[in-house]
Amino acid sequence: MTLTTTTEAPQVHRGLAGVIADYTAISKVNPETNSLLYRGYPVQELAAKCSFEEVAYLLWNGELPTDAELAEFTARERSARALDPVVKSVVDTLPTTAHPMDVCRTAASVLGARHELAEDSTPEANMKKAIDLWAAMPAVVAYDQRRRRGQEPIEPREDLDYSANFLWMTFGEEQVPEVVEAFNVSTILYAEHSFNASTFTARVVTSTLSDLHSAVTAAIGALKGPLHGGANEAVMHTFDEIGIRSEESLEEAATRARAWMKDAVDHKKKVMGFGHRVYKHGDSRVPTMKAALDKMIAHYGRPELLGLYNGLEQAMDEAKAIKPNLDYPAGPTYHLMGFDTPTFTPIFVASRITGWTAHAMEQLAANSLIRPLSAYNGVEERHIEATQ
Ligand code: COA
Repeated sequence: MTLTTTTEAPQVHRGLAGVIADYTAISKVNPETNSLLYRGYPVQELAAKCSFEEVAYLLWNGELPTDAELAEFTARERSARALDPVVKSVVDTLPTTAHPMDVCRTAASVLGARHELAEDSTPEANMKKAIDLWAAMPAVVAYDQRRRRGQEPIEPREDLDYSANFLWMTFGEEQVPEVVEAFNVSTILYAEHSFNASTFTARVVTSTLSDLHSAVTAAIGALKGPLHGGANEAVMHTFDEIGIRSEESLEEAATRARAWMKDAVDHKKKVMGFGHRVYKHGDSRVPTMKAALDKMIAHYGRPELLGLYNGLEQAMDEAKAIKPNLDYPAGPTYHLMGFDTPTFTPIFVASRITGWTAHAMEQLAANSLIRPLSAYNGVEERHIEATQ
């Protein structure tokens, strides 16, 4: 048999842009209509009418829970919230200069190695592992922010829902319902977004028949980057660079923000919190998150932040017609709530664990090893010259 060679250039899809890698029944992103459905439900409707717990149940089970199912599910989540003392001691060995995403990634790995079902990847075991990891992550995030501030850890409270308890463990104070609601909305919007980079990472790891915690640990690594989840943190760095001046009016702040954006565009800078690989006419999640941010700006009385937000958005729209993505309103919302900037992406982790693990379980249910090809563009075949 002879092998034929072709001189035709192979078709390469850099960044896998436009490539449909598999089917999924978990969410549908429609960039034409700027819509996002979780298991068929518009995400805006879920954010308006559901708790994050109901949405987590929906992502994992395909249907919203009945009252009895929700009661059992929330009891299960609340019973798994405490910070594992071994995780705490491992986190304590990390410097307080370590990025909180490194702390999350380490904690996910430790929790995996310590899980009673570590090597069991049956659907039942994976569901248990997913709920356990989702329930445990807020304690890790809250503990890490507190230890960096030199504060004592706060025990979880079983009488609070996921969002209220997350805020409680972070700040040691019960938050007013508006703040809990805004946080709840953010967790729902961050929960799932089809084959984004971190979810695809989780599916790749799962496709090798590795375990669920390995998939999540790898996904956390992918989410850390500023082109992905790290953008919510980067948005705040932009606001800081422009300068947050609490005495300033909305208009004054907007004028300075517009000038900053003009300079950034002139220097061809990538501005974090803008643009999206899939949505080219605006991110479907932004209006809902922006409404939550507006409520927080009113609640905390910080119009200058709205000025910065509006100024950047308008100037980017005028210059390049690039729209904000979810990270743009989420960053300042978390800032107003009192989170340290490096804690923003770990909040995204706690939320996206639901989507990642739903995808890992879907991948496993109809698995095919994910292993693309590459087009070689290195030096031509050569040989080591014989020496005398
Ligand atoms: N700031 C400035 N210019 C941007 C931009 C941004 N945030 N996002 C895209 N662009 C420009 C690019 O410079 C490029 O311009 P060019 O054709 O003149 O070179 C064009 O828009 C296409 O951008 P590209 O990076 O190729 O699009 P993509 O689909 O590969 O990238 C992102 C999508 C998300 C990676 C990109 O928009 C980005 O880096 N955004 C900032 C990071 C961010 O907010 N990430 C969170 C995503 S939810």
